[in-house]
Amino acid sequence: MNIILLGPPGAGKGTQAQRLVAERGMVQLSTGDMLRAAVAAGTPVGQRAKAIMDAGQLVPDDVVIGIISDRLDQPDLAKGAIFDGFPRTTAQAEALDRLLADKGLRLSAVIALTVDEEALVDRITGRFSCATCGEGYHDRYKLPKQDGVCDACGGATFKRRPDDNVETVRARLAEYHAKTAPIADYYGQRSMLHSVDGMADIDAVYCQIVAILDESV
Ligand code: AP5
Ligand code: ZN
Repeated sequence: MNIILLGPPGAGKGTQAQRLVAERGMVQLSTGDMLRAAVAAGTPVGQRAKAIMDAGQLVPDDVVIGIISDRLDQPDLAKGAIFDGFPRTTAQAEALDRLLADKGLRLSAVIALTVDEEALVDRITGRFSCATCGEGYHDRYKLPKQDGVCDACGGATFKRRPDDNVETVRARLAEYHAKTAPIADYYGQRSMLHSVDGMADIDAVYCQIVAILDESV
């Protein structure tokens, strides 16, 4: 089963995708993670994307469509793909339809997480993660149990994303409203769109998502 998690920055797409990976063996396809890996590796795609991401804008469609197309060629998607942060424009949504059809795959559901705007800013500007294992933390809601030590792996180095400051979050939200929110209609017209209350706690959001997956084929 292949699904899209749709929602603004900080809605919880990555959090819920990781849970689906852990509990259902699905594969998370996060274009944000792929682009950050390309930036870290200094590839031509990464060099092209870095300044755009740091400014909170969308990387050009051809770049992200190319990344997803390459990723869909890998043979590990039997238990299903979770598209996290892709598609983000109507052109990307149309390209995904073509790519899936070419590869004999289909989309089962598009799950839109809805969250209040101020909660999004609060979630994003407070978050940080373990540099060793990626475990996520938050300045107010989830600090390591022992100060400065990762609960999951014992690592002592933490990092923040360069685009997680207030100014860039506002720019990311503006991009979302202008270019990504309209694709909800694209999927609504195809009767694939399901809305989930992303303000609920993480477990409750997960339960809502699983209920939708269990009804979808
Ligand atoms: P990307 O990495 O996709 O970032 P994003 O969409 O801005 O999403 P985030 O990762 O910030 O949030 P999330 O929804 O995953 O929330 P999370 O689970 O972490 O993209 C980054 C950049 O890459 C873009 O700006 C763009 O430049 C580029 N890019 C990527 N894809 C692209 C594309 N397709 N086209 C063009 N450009 C692209 O949760 C956030 C926080 O909230 C965490 O601290 C978490 O613990 C907490 N939290 C989660 N759920 C809850 C809950 N229910 N209650 C309380 N706290 C919660
Ligand atoms: Zn760790």
